[in-house]
Amino acid sequence: MQYDKHGVLEMTEMNYDRNRPAASNPIKINDVSLRDGHQCLFATRGRTEDMIPVAEMIDEVGYNALEVWGGATFDAMHRFLAEDPWERLRTLKKYMPKTPFSMLLRGQNVVGYRNYADDVVEAFVQRSIDNGMDIFRVFDALNDFRNFEVAARVIKDNNKHFQGAVCYTLTEQRLGGDVYNMDYYLKKVQELVDMGVDSICLKDMAGLLAPYDGYNLIREIKKITDVPINLHTHFTSGMGDLTLFKAIEAGVDIIDTCIGPYAYRSSHPAVEPLVISLLGTNRDTGLNIKQITAIADEMEVHIPKYKHLDNNPKYAIHDINVILHQTPGGMLSNLVNQLKAMDSLDKLEEGFRLLPQVRKDLGNVPLVTPTSQIVGVQTVNNVLFDSEDGEYANITEQVKDLCYGMYGKTTEPIDPEVQQKALKDYPRGSTPIEDRPGSVLEPELEKAKGKASGLARNIDDELIVALYPVTGKRFLRWKYGHEKIPLELRPRTLSQVEKEETLIRKALSGELSANGTKARRQLEVTVDGESFTVEINDPYSNELANRARRSHRAVAKEVEEEEGGTGKLIATIPGMIVEVKKEVGDKVTADEVVVVFEAMKMMNSVKAGVNGTVKEVHFASGDSVNKGDLIMLIEPEE
Ligand code: CO
Repeated sequence: MQYDKHGVLEMTEMNYDRNRPAASNPIKINDVSLRDGHQCLFATRGRTEDMIPVAEMIDEVGYNALEVWGGATFDAMHRFLAEDPWERLRTLKKYMPKTPFSMLLRGQNVVGYRNYADDVVEAFVQRSIDNGMDIFRVFDALNDFRNFEVAARVIKDNNKHFQGAVCYTLTEQRLGGDVYNMDYYLKKVQELVDMGVDSICLKDMAGLLAPYDGYNLIREIKKITDVPINLHTHFTSGMGDLTLFKAIEAGVDIIDTCIGPYAYRSSHPAVEPLVISLLGTNRDTGLNIKQITAIADEMEVHIPKYKHLDNNPKYAIHDINVILHQTPGGMLSNLVNQLKAMDSLDKLEEGFRLLPQVRKDLGNVPLVTPTSQIVGVQTVNNVLFDSEDGEYANITEQVKDLCYGMYGKTTEPIDPEVQQKALKDYPRGSTPIEDRPGSVLEPELEKAKGKASGLARNIDDELIVALYPVTGKRFLRWKYGHEKIPLELRPRTLSQVEKEETLIRKALSGELSANGTKARRQLEVTVDGESFTVEINDPYSNELANRARRSHRAVAKEVEEEEGGTGKLIATIPGMIVEVKKEVGDKVTADEVVVVFEAMKMMNSVKAGVNGTVKEVHFASGDSVNKGDLIMLIEPEE
């Protein structure tokens, strides 16, 4: 059989065993299970101890690269797992010395949610290399490649692989329209070629790329450059496998996949069906299906530990809403969760309506971390606090930064009215910058070292604090035993999971009777589409903290019932206290920022609102707050 027109697969010798002849143009495969895979399916909670049992096997497969680090792993590990991200990199390298490692780097955002100063970017990239990283997939949420410059220099100086990514986003259901069309992407690819990238990634983080659009894009890109093209797509909308297949026909060089148990839903197409589909063609992967299946079997063993993190009750494994709203799946579920947390789920339709408008107002930016959060949270704010469309009554700090140019150049100009409103009283000034954002940021590393002193023992520790000042310090206190790691952050064991499941089974069959006054935890279980709530005895439930939270809420509720503007600072959204700038007894003015708190990864500055004296402070840096919690009480001046 010969299919040689337009890249359609060509059959070679039909020899399906392991020693089959090499294909003339084998597709190269990156395995992303240990980074993007569990980031999508288990909220990035995969633990190193569950990766070690498969690490050596994965290293034997012959993948082009293994994405094992970067993206959200750095944040999730130090915040939710009490694991040192640097240590994971070193440990995995020991078990997987053969296959190159790759990481996802958010350009000047590094592995955080804002642009950091150049010295932090330089030090972070250098330490990533020193700890074992080989390939850097660098992206910028605005596709503003000036934000690659500093990272790229360090990568190149160390002779490591610099992969530049173009974020794929849409404003229509398919490629086209005025903004994100073929011209846009070809221009972006050319910019990367001119920067001297070693390879190019077309990064479709939301699973929006349709098969024929992928086919045409790859073919057009191939006409302008010989630089290898790596397609990164997600299964989310259900098109992932089709899109990969058409891209392979079009001549894409590298694709990203996951091993079966870590594939599909909002994750990636699975590698196994692709290996079989391409057998005996000119694009044969050359991979051994039996070897991969053995890894999948071992991975399956550990999955029950993470099942509680997957609360998708749907039967369908795809979500076509991402196409209907041109929005990453995570962003849609965040919108739902945020409105739910504020008892405003009834305003969801309003959220869907406003989201494209907010995105347009903010320059029609691509939606990927952190712009997806920036647009998402501002949409929630507009839903909750605006009395008319376009009011922007409550603008987040990140939107102000975006309007000032601190993230880079937006795809289209920001709405001038919104921009003006955002930059009123903006500390850096009301005229936006045109330069590369990093060039206006003062060095930060020395300051971070100061903050970390007494806790950090090396530069890697200091970098954790530089990127995550509050949770980073908390992590170092756990790491060096100054503070106990909370029980709920410790790993779940299989026997623990088994016990829970037995209890759930018993509860469902009515065998379990109510019992005692011990700490109990509620579990939501879904059986055949029906939800049950069961309570189990659970030493992990933090009863004291819950009680404290309840009493704060009670106080806050009373306060809410009084007239506003009385110096009672109440959390309007759930989040975490980053900084309390005043102590009991301090004098404050109405315009002064007294508390900074993080909600949905965005910073919110809370002003005193009245001139007066601080009477009560109920939370400290690092504490979680719920909606309605009283944070600070200020006694107004007479
Ligand atoms: Co991804």
